[in-house]
Amino acid sequence: MTHHLPAEAPPPECPAHHRTALYGPRFAADPAGTYALLRAHGHVAPVELAPGVPASLVIGYRTALEVLRDPTTFPRDPRRWQDGVPPDSPALGMMRYRPNCMFADGAEHARLRGAITTCLARVDHTTLRADTVRIADELIDGFAAAGRVDLLAQYARPLMFILFTNLFGCPPHLSERLLVNTKALFDGHEPEAADRALNATLRELVELKRRRPGQDVVSWLLDADLSDEELCQTILVLMGGGSEPTADLITNALHRMLSDTGLGGGLASGVVRVDDAIDEVLWVDPPMANYSTSHPREAVTLAGVVLAADQPVVISMAAANTDPALNPADHTGNRSHLAFSAGPHACPVPEMARLLGAAAVERVLDRLPGLGLDDSARPVRWREGPFNRGLFALHARFTPPPDPVGPAAAPAPPTTAPPPVPTNPEAPPFRARLRDPVVRWWHGQ
Ligand code: HEM
Repeated sequence: MTHHLPAEAPPPECPAHHRTALYGPRFAADPAGTYALLRAHGHVAPVELAPGVPASLVIGYRTALEVLRDPTTFPRDPRRWQDGVPPDSPALGMMRYRPNCMFADGAEHARLRGAITTCLARVDHTTLRADTVRIADELIDGFAAAGRVDLLAQYARPLMFILFTNLFGCPPHLSERLLVNTKALFDGHEPEAADRALNATLRELVELKRRRPGQDVVSWLLDADLSDEELCQTILVLMGGGSEPTADLITNALHRMLSDTGLGGGLASGVVRVDDAIDEVLWVDPPMANYSTSHPREAVTLAGVVLAADQPVVISMAAANTDPALNPADHTGNRSHLAFSAGPHACPVPEMARLLGAAAVERVLDRLPGLGLDDSARPVRWREGPFNRGLFALHARFTPPPDPVGPAAAPAPPTTAPPPVPTNPEAPPFRARLRDPVVRWWHGQ
């Protein structure tokens, strides 16, 4: 079957051209149901990413690999397309051109990605894991006495926030601005304002590191062959692309593990290994659900569908992973999912993401006996953008320890505090940072 997908909005009476909204509460409540319906179109389906923003969604696993491995036919540069998109469209937050590796191809991509892989190779994973556990413990100490917690707002997000702040040598006042605006981009909220705020903050961070370089990822990036603008945008892709999806991975995995239906009966079955839960989530609820967007320079036929020139071709990692043609009986030990994409733009650090996710999930399960979803907060609500799969909140209850230690009970004197997070030797001791205004902000104070 061959059909054409015109760039302009399709006539609503034409069923062959009907576009399915990949945004809004209906999609967020049941994306798997939407993908199942879209399969009637074959491997490529007509969708809308935001009102009036048409795209082709690749939902077949084999076809997704074909696109991801062919950057010549499916290049990344969105500039010809974005000129025709209203500047306030929520789709632009994640899709607007930026001079970083995600939007480059060929030699330029190799140079921009090379800067990242060189710097991230310097991060020691043993230290990173120890840092994750230490920060997790501090956060858990902060809410352990309460017996209830929002595992996204009080745990996964601040954990990644503090970890990345530390890794990138970013002072807390700049981190807060980066994270707030990155989240706005992911969720498509006022993307233009978020973009301006992000650019200004990134320039401040780079100037600061030029004056006072340290043992951190941003200082190491200063040695790479990057212009100032490329440098800022590379920091953005690392911070935003690293912390937000990893926080969602942690929360999505905890949600599945704590749900009655998730992972063979959830924790109650007692057989769930954290590594398996992480893999399962990467298959069925990948944090980057629809992305890896390309813009063919001219009309091209893909899986029998003619795609218009310049119009976005979006890979649905979530739909491709659940392609009925794969039919995997059991995902255990199978990592051929597309949660980290594939081809030249695949995530450069899937092991790091898995390490952070598993350490964070393990820690909260180890420390909070009787952890379960808070029934008064069910059903959970999912955020509504097309690109990432993440919850608004994950409310849980647990049995508070009889004699909790840490800030919620009685602040420990500084001399008995655990050692500071060591990734960045210049960072202030962690307990001092808990008293910091940005960290208090994370706790809603
Ligand atoms: C669970 C966590 C993560 C998930 C699900 C994830 C997923 C992805 C996906 C799907 C892509 C492809 C994007 C595209 O094709 O446009 C990607 C690219 C990328 N990711 Fe990750 N990622 C995660 C964590 C991280 C972390 C922790 C970092 C860095 C510290 C990171 C850095 C990057 C970079 C730099 C790229 C761009 C690669 C390129 O265009 O060449 N990611 N990631």
